[in-house]
Amino acid sequence: MKDNINIRKMEMKDICQVLFIEKMSFATPWARESFERELRENKLAKYIVAEIDKKVVGYGGVWLILDEGHITNIAVHNEYRGFGIGHSLVDGLINVCDELNIERMTLEVRISNIFARNLYKNHGFVDIGIRPGYYADNKEDAVIMWKEL
Ligand SMILES: CC(C)(COP(=O)(O)OP(=O)(O)OC[C@H]1O[C@@H](n2cnc3c(N)ncnc32)[C@H](O)[C@@H]1OP(=O)(O)O)[C@@H](O)C(=O)NCCC(=O)NCCS
Repeated sequence: MKDNINIRKMEMKDICQVLFIEKMSFATPWARESFERELRENKLAKYIVAEIDKKVVGYGGVWLILDEGHITNIAVHNEYRGFGIGHSLVDGLINVCDELNIERMTLEVRISNIFARNLYKNHGFVDIGIRPGYYADNKEDAVIMWKEL
């Protein structure tokens, strides 16, 4: 399956499929308007999708703030998890940052989200701190991860 993954820029026409994946992936999913605003108005935001046979199966985003890239979200359709799409999305976001001369990348991830923490660790992100009670829905701590490019 990995050979068939195409990574490209997210477009407005992708939002329906992205929202479907967002809702299956997060306890407090972003609304359609949030994605629309990100694509239309946020000059600091870059979003990519992973597609297989023209179907959107995952997506990820990063905000470019000065020389840092902040990963906002990464999610893969639950029927397509475990096939390397998460790896391709992280690589895609790292490439976006590399091309724009970003020097380091950072993100927050739920402390219980072992899959995602492993994914980022495999790409050279390291834990640098904790934000206690960061997630509003269950007051779970966030791990802050960091990678020098
Ligand atoms: C996290 C997520 C994006 C991973 O996507 P994926 O396409 O399944 O990931 P991949 O198949 O590329 O696997 C990447 C790594 O994730 C970790 N991983 C994936 N499945 C795993 C499992 N069953 N057990 C442990 N680690 C696992 C591994 O480190 C794996 O790397 P490896 O294959 O080299 O060991 C996906 O699980 C998801 O969408 N989760 C819900 C949304 C989410 O939590 N996003 C992250 C928010 S910060």
